[in-house]
This record gives sequence, C-alpha cells and structure tokens, in this order.
Amino acid sequence: MDLTTFANRFGTDKGTISQAAHGYTAVYDLLFAGRRNESVNILEIGLSTGGPELGRSADRKVIDAPSIRMWHEFFPKSSLYGLDISDFSQMQTDWLSFVRADCGDAQQLEKVANFGTQFDIIVDDGSHASYHQQLTMVTLFKFLRPGGLYIIEDLDWQPMHLERSLPAVPDTTAQLRNFVTNFEFIPSEGIADSKWRSVAADIRNIVLLDDDELFGMRRMYNRREQLTADTSHYYEQSAGRRLGSRGYLRRVKETSAQLSRALVGGFGPAQRSRVKLALIHKFG
Ligand SMILES: C[S@@+](CC[C@H](N)C(=O)[O-])C[C@H]1O[C@@H](n2cnc3c(N)ncnc32)[C@H](O)[C@@H]1O
Repeated sequence: MDLTTFANRFGTDKGTISQAAHGYTAVYDLLFAGRRNESVNILEIGLSTGGPELGRSADRKVIDAPSIRMWHEFFPKSSLYGLDISDFSQMQTDWLSFVRADCGDAQQLEKVANFGTQFDIIVDDGSHASYHQQLTMVTLFKFLRPGGLYIIEDLDWQPMHLERSLPAVPDTTAQLRNFVTNFEFIPSEGIADSKWRSVAADIRNIVLLDDDELFGMRRMYNRREQLTADTSHYYEQSAGRRLGSRGYLRRVKETSAQLSRALVGGFGPAQRSRVKLALIHKFG
C-alpha cells in the first residue's frame, strides 16, 4: 500500500480522489517510501478542511484529521504533531500531539518549541494565505532538523479575504522563485528582512512543481490502479467533472489565447501552469 492509497482511503485532498485531488502524495511516496519503518517526526499545519480559510469560524467543531491518519498509517513508527487555529486537542493520542495556534502570530507559532523536538518533515497545509505561509516558514524553519524537508501545499490558491486583510507580502511562489533565481527573498513590509536571511542561509534546494506535472502524476496513479486486479476502489472522474475542472478550463483558455496570438502574428512563449507545491530542503 502506498501513500496515495491511504490518502484516498482517509479522504484527504492530497491524494488522487477526494475533493480537489491534488496528487501530492504521488510525489511524497517517491520521497518517503524507503523510510516507512523509520520513526520520523512530522509536523503538519492545518488538519481538516472547512476552517477560516473558507470564511468559517476558528471555533468550529472538528471531528476528523484525514491527513494525520494518512501519515500515521504510512509511517507507523512516526510521531505526529499538529498545529491548527481550530481545536483538535481531543484527538491527541500517544502518537499525536497538538498545539492550537494562529499562523498569523509569530508568538503563537513559537509554541511549537514546547513539543521539544526537531522535525524531519514540516507540511504547511494551513490557510494558504501568503502572509501565513511566509510567517510560518520564517518562524518554524529552525525547528526542521538538518537535512529535513519543508513542504508548502496549494501555492496556486489564496483566500482573497485573508490576502486583503493580512500584512502585504509578495505571493509565496514569487518569493520562492526569486530565491531560486537570485538567491535572496523579496523584501516586504510584512516580514522583516533579517527573518528571511536567517532562513536563506539554511536552504539547500527548492523544488517547485506545477499543476501540469501533478496532473500527469495523478493520471498515472489512477491508471495503475485500473490495471491492478482489484479495481473495486479504482476511481476516474466523470467526463463532466473532468471537463469542468479548473485545470481543464485553464488549458482551454491558454490554448485559445495562443491561437489568437498566432492569428495576429506568431506564437508567443507557452504559458507555464501555476506552481502548486514547494519542496524546500534544509542543509544537512
Ligand atoms: C486545507 S485545510 C487542511 C486539510 C488537511 N491537511 C487534509 O489534508 O485533509 C486547512 C486547515 O488550516 C487551518 N487554518 C486556517 N487558518 C489558519 C490559521 N490562521 N492558523 C492556523 N491554522 C489555520 C484550518 O482550521 C484547517 O484545518
């Protein structure tokens, strides 16, 4: 059983079936399959859809943490740590510790120190607001162990009500791309330069994966499922859902834009699809 199977079983959107079916687990499985028996420490930020990122109250009643269950099944010896603005403390077990914190408040984020550990993997699947992503990264990077991986998901979607109300910062993809190109982060009013500099010194590599790359991995995974003898849990989106998906509509829009450019004189450079996933590797 691979990570995507667990993602699909527990209903997190990191897999290839549920909700937006981002397909991130196809990438994570490549990275982590060889470490399943290790006792890794994983911190996940954001534990269950339907919080303030969608305009709901942080005090909502929460009953599940699908991605936490996925990580636990995949890494049975792991210690899991969760951080969220909603209260998941009733879900704590001997393998799950939780801290309630707002990613917009550096002091609250520092409560992670109370776990008294360093993490092998940190996954930011919180509100997806640019300011939250960047404040969380500059605050928590020091808790990543040398050689660890810091992951930011859903870079292509920001909740507009938060983007407008939080301190202004460049969007996180632009910020990471700038580092890849110029080896420095873009200064902003929201996050002090000194905070970025301390993180920059520890970054070994940044890999950015876009919508098209993940779309391909997702389709390959679902095809493999179809080829196995047991097709009972095989899933293929209906033609209607597929044709109405954001990825498909974007491709139609880009193709027609290219065609119209061709009609008025020559094809321009093909537009790249949007970056969705960042893998940030810390120096060992
Ligand atoms: C996309 S969901 C997480 C989905 C989950 N990881 C999964 O795979 O099923 C986003 C989560 O971020 C949390 N969140 C939203 N705003 C936050 C903030 N300012 N600080 C911390 N967590 C926040 C929400 O409560 C919600 O649980």
